[in-house]
Amino acid sequence: MKNSGGGATGRKTTNLSVFVVVFSIFLFGCFMYNEDMKSLAEFPFSRSKSQEIQEEEQQQSDQNNPVQEIIKNDQVNSVSMNSRTQESEFRVEEDDDEEVELPPEDCDLFKGDWVLDNVTHPIYREDECEFLTAQVTCLRNGRKDSLYQNWKWQPRDCSLPKFKARLLLEKLRGKRLMFVGDSLNRNQWESMVCLVQSAVPRGRKSLSKNGSLSVFRIQDYNATVEFYWAPFIVESNSDDPDMHSILNRIIMPESINKHGENWKGVDFLIFNTYIWWMNTGAMKILRGSFDEGATEYDEILRPAAYARVLNTWSNWVDENVDPNRTTVFFSSMSPLHIKSLDWGNPDGIKCALETMPIQNMSKKPNVGTDRRLFVIAVNVTRSMKVPVHFLNITRLSEYRKDAHTSIYTIRQGKILTDEQKADPAIYADCIHWCLPGLPDTWNEFIYTRIISHS
Ligand SMILES: *[C@@H]1O[C@H](CO)[C@@H](O)[C@H](O)[C@H]1NC(C)=O
Ligand SMILES: *[C@@H]1O[C@H](CO)[C@@H](O)[C@H](O)[C@H]1NC(C)=O
Ligand SMILES: *[C@@H]1O[C@H](CO)[C@@H](O)[C@H](O)[C@H]1NC(C)=O
Ligand SMILES: *[C@@H]1O[C@H](CO)[C@@H](O)[C@H](O)[C@H]1NC(C)=O
Ligand SMILES: *[C@@H]1O[C@H](CO)[C@@H](O)[C@H](O)[C@H]1NC(C)=O
Ligand SMILES: *[C@@H]1O[C@H](CO)[C@@H](O)[C@H](O)[C@H]1NC(C)=O
Ligand SMILES: *[C@@H]1O[C@H](CO)[C@@H](O)[C@H](O)[C@H]1NC(C)=O
Repeated sequence: MKNSGGGATGRKTTNLSVFVVVFSIFLFGCFMYNEDMKSLAEFPFSRSKSQEIQEEEQQQSDQNNPVQEIIKNDQVNSVSMNSRTQESEFRVEEDDDEEVELPPEDCDLFKGDWVLDNVTHPIYREDECEFLTAQVTCLRNGRKDSLYQNWKWQPRDCSLPKFKARLLLEKLRGKRLMFVGDSLNRNQWESMVCLVQSAVPRGRKSLSKNGSLSVFRIQDYNATVEFYWAPFIVESNSDDPDMHSILNRIIMPESINKHGENWKGVDFLIFNTYIWWMNTGAMKILRGSFDEGATEYDEILRPAAYARVLNTWSNWVDENVDPNRTTVFFSSMSPLHIKSLDWGNPDGIKCALETMPIQNMSKKPNVGTDRRLFVIAVNVTRSMKVPVHFLNITRLSEYRKDAHTSIYTIRQGKILTDEQKADPAIYADCIHWCLPGLPDTWNEFIYTRIISHS
């Protein structure tokens, strides 16, 4: 989408100084976009007010991304239609009859510590999950240290139940679970696919993508684990699932039904939206509708726009979700680790040299997360008619400077070259996370909720 005519001029409703800042950011942004999208993460602007971030959204063309191909494996059909036989022939989990102990309802799962536990974590192995995309397979992409896979989240006052894929699948039988949001929710969706797929034999599972919707299907359970691309939740000019790396982002904060149609009747919905808000201090709000060809916009400050979007979302949920059927989650922001001085490492290069979490857990980490948006999300989710489970992942993830994909990832569909790997200041991705890894823990929270109810 082209910025119409004179760039950000002429339609201001904000004051001049804001305009000057925004416009310089825009110009700088255009320059850097052409030079190298990635270096926007290096913005030298004052971050205390607002961190200016450009998400590295890899252009994932279908040829280069295995998850976006339709993976179907039907050869087992003729072997046996009896799923009991198949399950007994296919054992990956040991001790499956062991009881799972549920945490008390009132335990705050998000207050706790990271502890090393290489017996239970990782929950699955990178090379055992064929559905992982090259974006997140850090070991395969050359990462040498693997301790980042061995951290377990230990709530202070209780414990997370042992993860059992079979148990989760029983709860998902005949149901749909859907992640809705940006690439961090896609990151978490890939994790969820890997968590459940270990209990499903070859040929009884498939992954397909159609437009904004990716569906992982588990045939014997008639269950799906889905991802729906909607980086702002509401309608925006970045909704194209394949070509969405748009610098000049424009949203329609009150328009949600076009996306929402695809969420109706889903049994478990997990929403998020954050990273796409972070490249400018102000958000562009379309005057009118994309469908009618509108291009003019107003700019309003990020928190005000975020509140408008979350209000639209909460109204949609309250009007369209039957709480007797559907469980709704909202994920708080997934943090970035861009400035190594934030955790006191003057010799660091973004997150690229980090192999350990931030150690001092009694100190609140400050890695530049926009907490104003956190407060809005807490407030909105608390005041809804439909109960929403707030996944308070921000703080616990802020400790995990070690867990990003960094240089062990793809860019425009290709693994970084050796030359690019040698230049982490430009090429390290300190937004997304390796798998197995941190998003598995986020899914352990969802797992805990699902097996505790329904
Ligand atoms: C979120 O969790 C952190 C600890 O990880 C805690 O300090 C904070 O109070 C929690 N916030 C909410 C709204 O639950
Ligand atoms: C797990 O950790 C223990 C002690 O920290 C170590 O001795 C052992 O080799 C580790 N095992 C694996 C599989 O990494
Ligand atoms: C399979 O699950 C869908 C919901 O995801 C449901 O509508 C359908 O009735 C189920 N089919 C069978 C045969 O259980
Ligand atoms: C893809 O989705 C569109 C509507 O969103 C639908 O009309 C079409 O049949 C779907 N294609 C496949 C192969 O499922
Ligand atoms: C949910 O179930 C309860 C009890 O079965 C019933 O009273 C209530 O009307 C239901 N709510 C909706 C929205 O269907
Ligand atoms: C951890 O942080 C607290 C609070 O800032 C500080 O008092 C303490 O000395 C720190 N501990 C270590 C081991 O650095
Ligand atoms: C919290 O939400 C309520 C109701 O939605 C609203 O009136 C209030 O202004 C909000 N407070 C903040 C700090 O966002």
